[in-house]
Amino acid sequence: MPEVFHPYASFGLQERKPMRFEADVFECEVEGVIPAELEGSYFRSGGDRQYPSLEDDIILNGDGLVSAFHFEGGHVSFRSRYVQTERLKAERGARRRLYGHYRNKHTDDASVSNLPQRDNTGNTFAFEHHGKLYALREDSHPYEIDMDTLETKGIGDFGDLRSTALTAHPKVDPVTGEWWSYGVFADGEPSTAASLHVFDADGKLIREQMFETPYPGLSHDWGVTREHLVFPIMPLVADEARLRQGGAYYEYDPDLPGKWGVMPRDGDPARDMRWFDIPGLVMGHVMNAYSEGERVILDTPASPGNCFSFFADKTGRFPTMPETITQITRIVFDLSRPDHEAVSLHPVEGALGDMPRIDDRFAMSKHSIGYFALRDFPQMGVGQIMWDTGELLVHDLKGAASQEPLFVPRSADAAEGDGFVLVVVDRFEEKRADLLILDGKDVSREPLATVKLPFAMPMAFHGCWVPSETK
Ligand SMILES: [Fe+2]
Repeated sequence: MPEVFHPYASFGLQERKPMRFEADVFECEVEGVIPAELEGSYFRSGGDRQYPSLEDDIILNGDGLVSAFHFEGGHVSFRSRYVQTERLKAERGARRRLYGHYRNKHTDDASVSNLPQRDNTGNTFAFEHHGKLYALREDSHPYEIDMDTLETKGIGDFGDLRSTALTAHPKVDPVTGEWWSYGVFADGEPSTAASLHVFDADGKLIREQMFETPYPGLSHDWGVTREHLVFPIMPLVADEARLRQGGAYYEYDPDLPGKWGVMPRDGDPARDMRWFDIPGLVMGHVMNAYSEGERVILDTPASPGNCFSFFADKTGRFPTMPETITQITRIVFDLSRPDHEAVSLHPVEGALGDMPRIDDRFAMSKHSIGYFALRDFPQMGVGQIMWDTGELLVHDLKGAASQEPLFVPRSADAAEGDGFVLVVVDRFEEKRADLLILDGKDVSREPLATVKLPFAMPMAFHGCWVPSETK
């Protein structure tokens, strides 16, 4: 009996349905005028399903689907393709589902029990570095993707990298062009093994240092400043014994404090890390981080409970909606003070939501503008924080939902925020999606242009802009 497709659990206690298609739309319908400065491609990656998944599956387990909006002379074309991963090729060969739960090989079909790259779906971030496009996934080495065709070229060459894990939230140094990265569970199993790595502007591995985290907790994103590194370890704990029994990869432990490791950027993580406790706060993403002397500032959407709402706590309970709501929060680590008074939290009034981005030319340094997907139910939209004044600007989507907003500067030397915010919005009632092009100085204004798609889109997580001269 063939298996059927089930909805899968997403963030915010929502459910989503598999979409299952690849698409080509040559010459998208456009309302308004595409700004002449937008010449290049907007790449994104997310997860969808090619084959049925188990009934209680979660969004993180989807097959990677990379999509591109190609901008040329005021025209926009769209393409999406599945990342041709080892697991997808195995399932296509068998013409049925072979894989079980998220990062749990003990729930797989026996025919694929030893296949390498089991978890490498490439479903998290379409990321460009040294002229190459990668589909990132935090527990694996990225697949390389052809920028024009979106065909999968295979797993990239990362030199002598020892860690099996490479975060899906790399930080590119705008001064040096370096690709800064880290990995937890760096030995491929639930453990405290972690690693820090740096690739130079040409993609060559120039630094790798191993270290231990305080417990085997979730760590999805991090902070890099010009002087410091920040490693958050969240109290969602992985456990091999639970996996062997067919259980979930993570379990939330509200009695464990989040652990935040802060160290000098050029230090040794095994020796120079200072770990701070922040109880009652769970984060997934980082907007940006920077240093001011002994103060390390990091902006993050953070929730009072478990914002990874599809993982139960250690009693089997799933969170309530208020426990999952994230609010953009400035965390200050004052390294001149003793541990118990070094950390202060500064939530931004009304800034509820996630998927934060900045003008990436200001990464690792002080930024004055941040963008994010606003989820102040029932209001949803695109939010913009003016950090110097605390002002919050909102583009109200009137029932539609924002995916990750991405800032593209008008030119290489334009002022911060002088450019465009590209954001895919889900118009659920119309079963369609649009790509909005908003004014980066004030997203609350009417869109400069709207690229209309005649179908709904699977949720993508993260993306990048690649100017045409880079391709
Ligand atoms: Fe992410």
